[in-house]
Amino acid sequence: MPENLEVKIRKFEPRDTQNVRRIIHDTALLGESGALFFEGEEVLSDALTLYFTDYEPQSCFVAEVNSEIAGCLVGAKNKLILEKIFNKEIAPGLFCKAIKTGVLANKKNIIFILGCLWDAIRGRFIAPDFSRDYPAILHINVRNGFRGRDIGSKLMESYLNYLRQEGVLGVHLATMSEAGAGFFLKQGFKLLFASKRSYFRPVLHKVVPLYIYGMKLA
Ligand SMILES: CC(C)(COP(=O)(O)OP(=O)(O)OC[C@H]1O[C@@H](n2cnc3c(N)ncnc32)[C@H](O)[C@@H]1OP(=O)(O)O)[C@@H](O)C(=O)NCCC(=O)NCCS
Repeated sequence: MPENLEVKIRKFEPRDTQNVRRIIHDTALLGESGALFFEGEEVLSDALTLYFTDYEPQSCFVAEVNSEIAGCLVGAKNKLILEKIFNKEIAPGLFCKAIKTGVLANKKNIIFILGCLWDAIRGRFIAPDFSRDYPAILHINVRNGFRGRDIGSKLMESYLNYLRQEGVLGVHLATMSEAGAGFFLKQGFKLLFASKRSYFRPVLHKVVPLYIYGMKLA
C-alpha cells in the first residue's frame, strides 16, 4: 500500500450498505471476523448495522481510499431512540430470520447465546446509564491493512463535528478492545466505566474487559 494514502471521508450513502455490513461483520470480534463467534453473517450483520444503515444513515460516515471503502463510523444521536426502534422494529424481524435460517440451532451460536445469558445472570450487563450527559453513541471500524494511518481519527473528527453542529451534548461508546481503548484516549475520550465479559471465552479463552468511554461536546 502507498505511504501517502488519499483518504476521503464522506457521509454514508445507500450504495455503501453492503460494504459497511461487511466491514462491521469482519471486524466484530476485537477487529477480527464475527464468524469466529457466530455463524450466520446475514443475521449478525443485521443485528450490528440495520439501525444505522436503515434508520439513521445521516449519522454514518465512510472512509474512501482509491474508491475503496477502508473504514466506517456508524452513529446514533440518541441511544434511547436507537434502543426503542431496535426493540420494537428490528428485534422481532431478526428473531424470525434467525429461526427461519436455522442459525439458532447452530452449536457455535448456542454456546455464544448461553455465554450471554451467563453474563446476564451474573449482572455483567448492568452498567450506569450515560445517555443523559452523553446521548450519542458510535461504532468505528477500520479494515485490517488500513489501520494506523489516521483513517480512524479522520472518521472520528467528521462525526464529532457533525454531532456538535446538531447540538448533541455528548457521546459515549463501549469497547472490549484494549487497542480500541488506546485509540479513544488519544481522541480525548474519558473512561466512564469498566466491566468484564465472558461470552467470548470459548473463542478467546479468556474473560475480556468492557470499557465505556465518553466525551462531552457542549
Ligand atoms: C481502533 C481503530 C478504529 C483506530 O483507527 P486507526 O485508523 O487504526 O487509528 P489512527 O491511525 O487514526 O490512530 C490515531 C491515534 O490513535 C492511536 N492508536 C490507534 N490504534 C491504537 C492502538 N491499537 N493502541 C494504542 N493507540 C492506538 C495511534 O497511535 C494514533 O496516535 P498518534 O496520532 O499519536 O500516532 C482501528 O484500528 C480499528 O478499527 N481496529 C479494529 C476494531 C476496533 O478495535 N474498533 C474499535 C472498538 S469499537
